[in-house]
Amino acid sequence: IDPTIDLVAEINRLKKEKNAVILAHYYQDSEIQDLADYIGDSLGLSQQAAKTDADMIVFAGVHFMAETAKILSPSKKVLLPDLKAGCSLSDSCPPHLFAKFKDKYPDHLVITYVNCTAELKALSDIVCTSSNAVQIVESLPADQKIIFGPDRNLGDYVKKKTGRDLVLWNGACMVHEIFSQEKIDALRLEYPNAKFIAHPECEDHILAQADYIGSTSGMLKYTIEDPTDTYIVATESGILHQMQKASPSKTFIPAPPNNLCACNDCPHMKLNTLEKLYNCLYYEQPEIVLSEDIIARAQKPIERMLEISA
Ligand code: 13P
Ligand code: SF4
Repeated sequence: IDPTIDLVAEINRLKKEKNAVILAHYYQDSEIQDLADYIGDSLGLSQQAAKTDADMIVFAGVHFMAETAKILSPSKKVLLPDLKAGCSLSDSCPPHLFAKFKDKYPDHLVITYVNCTAELKALSDIVCTSSNAVQIVESLPADQKIIFGPDRNLGDYVKKKTGRDLVLWNGACMVHEIFSQEKIDALRLEYPNAKFIAHPECEDHILAQADYIGSTSGMLKYTIEDPTDTYIVATESGILHQMQKASPSKTFIPAPPNNLCACNDCPHMKLNTLEKLYNCLYYEQPEIVLSEDIIARAQKPIERMLEISA
């Protein structure tokens, strides 16, 4: 790329020229969030992908999110700035192993967290996100047997909230498993009035201390509506950008990770850059391509989710 180019201006120009929409997750770098047409959590992003009238969707997020957009809008061109932007949680559940796991429980309904491959969604009955997982489980009859995957932490949280006995796949997110209990305790002593807010992908002992648990958009809304002025935030640090923008006078502190990690950044989310976004719009590559069969089979459980959470 020509180093003198104004990337933001060029991205905006290409976006108009090609009737493209940029959908960005809260974990993206702030400069990407600032030029997106829509910023949101996984549920919000999939709702936007389903209803957009753009010809092209540029997904500033990770692979499973762009796949979900393609499944919901198969006639549109869906682009992901870096195809290597994967997800450790999605990787923790290979579809061929999940198919064997599912075979062990033939009378169970399968709910999969949206953080999984299109192939896994195609093996599911209903998809969910962190903002509607409890609602989706509660929409089913009390005696319905359920397999929940791939996130065991979200699964444990849903079990506690609903009192249901879910069969869990043992997967997890690398970012939400690194928080240090001792360091969070020390920080709370230092900031005794701070609220501790956490994403349900965090481990049980971290969630047990939380004043609020919710999806990224749930956490953001909480910090806007709650009167406290300081928050310790246990999730990927990209969300702090919107929290700070919405409440400029408040203080947001990323929850400290253990000594093995330097920060709470998701290495997959952070693969996307303004340069890659520009190239992706310019060359219309890399594109998400899925077979018609996978699209047809994965669409049903996602649409079921969208109907329940409408
Ligand atoms: P939500 O934004 O839906 O809470 O998801 C968090 C996440 O880990 C996305 O990768
Ligand atoms: Fe996957 Fe975790 Fe990164 Fe989200 S934060 S994309 S769940 S690895």
